[in-house]
Amino acid sequence: GAVAQTGRTTIPYGAAIRIDPMLEEPDYRKAVLDYCQVVVGEGGLKWIDLRPDRDSFVFDQPDRLLAFAEEHGLEMRGHTLAWYAAMPDWVETIASAEEARTELVRHIETVVGRYKGRISSWDVVNEPIADHPTREAPIRDSVWQRHLGKDYIELALRTTAKVNPDARLVINDFDFEQPTDKARARRKAFLDLIRELKARDVPLHAIGLQGHLQGEIAIDKSGLTAFVAELASMDLAIMVTELDIIDNLLPGPEIERDGIIAQRAKDFLDAIGAAKRPEAVLTWGISDRHTWVPIWFSRDDGMPNRPLPLDADFRPKPLMQVIQDFC
Ligand code: XIL
Repeated sequence: GAVAQTGRTTIPYGAAIRIDPMLEEPDYRKAVLDYCQVVVGEGGLKWIDLRPDRDSFVFDQPDRLLAFAEEHGLEMRGHTLAWYAAMPDWVETIASAEEARTELVRHIETVVGRYKGRISSWDVVNEPIADHPTREAPIRDSVWQRHLGKDYIELALRTTAKVNPDARLVINDFDFEQPTDKARARRKAFLDLIRELKARDVPLHAIGLQGHLQGEIAIDKSGLTAFVAELASMDLAIMVTELDIIDNLLPGPEIERDGIIAQRAKDFLDAIGAAKRPEAVLTWGISDRHTWVPIWFSRDDGMPNRPLPLDADFRPKPLMQVIQDFC
C-alpha cells in the first residue's frame, strides 16, 4: 500500500461517485475529500453513457470526475471497457465477429487513449463469468461473447495494454464469497479462465473482487481465502472494487443490522487479507444517500437500506470503522 502522511502503511480507500450530486452537495463532496484516495465513476464510462450511437463518444461525465480527482490529488479508476450490461441498443446491430472486434478495439483505443497518463487502472473486463457457470458455458452471455466467444477477454486486455502500456489491467467479478455451490462453481470457472489467460501470456495485473455482499449470508472465509491464494500464486494483485452490503433480506432493528453489515465486510476483508493484502479497497458509493441498492434490492418493510460506510447524513457507521481498521 501507499505510505500516508502519518507514515503509517495504508491500503488506499475509495468509492464510486455520482459526479453531479457530488459536485452539488457540499456534504457529499466533503465526505469524498475526507475519506477517499481513489474514486471511480458509478457510471459515465459505461457504454450506455459514453456511446449513445455508433459514431459518438460523450466524455462529459468522466471528464468532470477526472478534473475533480486531479484537482484534489485523488486517483481515478476506469470502469469499465467490456461488460454485458449497460449497453446501448445499437450494439445489438453488431452482426459479425469482424464487426464486434472492430467496435471493441475502436472503443478501447478511443477511451483508454484519451485518458492515457491520467486513468491508469482499468476494469478492462467486468463480470465475465456466467451466473451459474457450467463446463460447457463458463462465460457470461454478452454481445462480445456471442460474436467472439471468450476470446473477447484476451482481445480487450491486449488492446488496452497496447494503447496504454502503463495501465493496470483488472478483471472484475462478483459472487465468490458465499458458502454455496453456485459460488464454488463461479470460483472454479474464474480460476480456469485466469489460468488460461496466464498460460497464453495475456497481460493482466490484478483481480477486482467486487464485494456486493449479501447481508443475510455468512462469508465462506476459507473458500474465499483459498481462492485469493490461488490468484496470488499466479502473480496477480487483488483489489476490492465495489464493496457494499445488500441488506434487503436482513431483519432486525437498525443498530443490529449495522453490526451485521460491518461484520460481513470484516469477514470478507479478513478472508482476502489472510491470503493477500488488497492493493485498494473501494466501496460502491460512500453514503446511503446515493446507492444503487434500494433501486435493485429494496426492503419489504419500507425501512431504508444501509449498505455503505456513511449513513444518509454522511455520518460514519460501524462499516467505516471496519474499513479504516483494515486499511
Ligand atoms: C450499477 C450502478 O450502481 C447503477 O447505478 C446502474 O444502474 C447499474 O450499474 N456491478 C458493477 C457495477 O460492476 O457497474 C454496477 O453498477 C453494480 C454491479
